[in-house]
Amino acid sequence: MAPPGKTGAMNRGTNKDAGDWITGHNHSCRLQHAVARSSFRFRVLRKRRLAANVVRMAIHAPLVAANAKPGQFMLLRPGEHSERIPLTISNADLAEGTVTIVFQESGVTTRELAKLKRGDYVHDLAGPLGTPSEIAEFGTVACVGGGVGIAVMLPIARALRQAGNRVVGIIGARTRELVLLEKDMREACDDVLVMTDDGSYGGKGLVTDALAELIAREPVHRAYAIGPLPMMFFVCKLTKEHGIKTIVSLDPVMVDGTGMCGGCRVLVGGEAKFTCVDGPEFDGHLVDWDTLKARKAIYKDEEQFALQAALEREGKDAEA
Ligand code: NAD
Ligand code: FES
Repeated sequence: MAPPGKTGAMNRGTNKDAGDWITGHNHSCRLQHAVARSSFRFRVLRKRRLAANVVRMAIHAPLVAANAKPGQFMLLRPGEHSERIPLTISNADLAEGTVTIVFQESGVTTRELAKLKRGDYVHDLAGPLGTPSEIAEFGTVACVGGGVGIAVMLPIARALRQAGNRVVGIIGARTRELVLLEKDMREACDDVLVMTDDGSYGGKGLVTDALAELIAREPVHRAYAIGPLPMMFFVCKLTKEHGIKTIVSLDPVMVDGTGMCGGCRVLVGGEAKFTCVDGPEFDGHLVDWDTLKARKAIYKDEEQFALQAALEREGKDAEA
């Protein structure tokens, strides 16, 4: 066998444009000789702002697109010095070789990602990661999506309907402008109920209000809930009273995404689970929500500090 770095397509540095699809740039990869160079470069093909701070982005990543299933996520870094963040795959287009993500610009890294323009490259990207959603025929399924969680719900709702379920989408946002992907959800589901907190569009109230009405109206055999933690908690509280099994998608802090660092640990049914490999979906009636809430808040101060520093840097750059 040739010594590292001497010969062959697998050696580090022999192909300056290509890279490992796991780590991005000029690292060696066993697949490198077998797939096209372009497979290792993650070009932004489309970018659209869906709401004031919500962006949809289609990224060329054919190997990920070919293997992605509903419920799975990717870890990516927008730039060389960025943090690695998990984002659930909202759509995978096999023919085009793209994966689509929808994200909220809420911290330093999502702001960096949102700055990438069409034609730019995401520095590195790993995926698909996590256990896919359990898709089977359950009967009537309520797919409850809150805010940005609607984008994560979309492929799951689509797959559940393809599996023969009657799928009722319940989507909620604070106000009309923040209702995302309603048209896509209407195409994916048999019926869609829209709720806004302020009543500016659809029904006035929370997604849990619409879910309670649906449960009163017809038998619901399974529920999925994806959105902010309090929303998932209250959906589970309601469905538990009615004995409806409910799957939630959790988004704790992640570091490696492969089950090694323990950063994404959650308690489910009294057992420690790693969200990145055992999840991100779990039985919501078994999730220890208090522990999850506490763990999600651990880095709040540091995140706020980093965001403040980034905003100040941006302000100085704009002045210069
Ligand atoms: P948001 O706070 O605007 O809430 C969206 C909707 O969720 C509300 O309109 C309401 O209908 C419902 N909701 C919120 N709180 C509720 C409560 N206490 N009881 C019942 N229903 C409630 O949503 P946002 O700002 O778009 O959400 C952002 C959050 O979503 C982020 O913090 C992120 O962590 C989370 N998120 C999670 C996932 C995931 O995979 N779990 C994916 C995307 C986003
Ligand atoms: Fe490290 Fe899950 S992110 S174990």
